[in-house]
Amino acid sequence: MVGRDVFCRPRIDIPDPLGVLYPRMEQGRREFIKKALYGIFALLGLGSLAGSLRSLWPTGGPQKTLAWFPLLAEDDVPRQGVRKAELVYAVGGNERKGRVFIVSSPDGFIVLSAVCSHLGCLVNYNKGKREFQCPCHGGRYDLTGRNIAGPPPAPLTTLPHRIENGIMIVGMKV
Ligand code: FES
Repeated sequence: MVGRDVFCRPRIDIPDPLGVLYPRMEQGRREFIKKALYGIFALLGLGSLAGSLRSLWPTGGPQKTLAWFPLLAEDDVPRQGVRKAELVYAVGGNERKGRVFIVSSPDGFIVLSAVCSHLGCLVNYNKGKREFQCPCHGGRYDLTGRNIAGPPPAPLTTLPHRIENGIMIVGMKV
């Protein structure tokens, strides 16, 4: 008896002669639970529908603009081969760092972001194979940044660059 008393809910008798306060109780408990479950499923369905619709529209976030940052002295730009460089830049007063590769060829040079197009790991340069390799899932890129093997869906990003007052500067969208 003691255990039963512990698990019994206290009974509160509030007069409701017109059935205004407890209309659902009159429909029976099963009916009420059924309707509550329908309501929950309807809400879940609306939530996932809203998520799907949202993915069809652009995020509407702030537009990124191209900003220029110094990379290294013109004299340090390689005349041949590949050179890794750290790019330090600021966004909204916060300092950030990025890794880039300067790839020289007889036609000039290009600056490649080291961010893998698959899931954003930083790629390394394999001098022996003359290609960029991602340590995360084995993605590989040739010297132009083109994705040649593994899961990366797109090339490495080529960054615009120019020489100003003896300094190589590169453009980043921030
Ligand atoms: S993050 Fe580079 S291959 Fe997956």
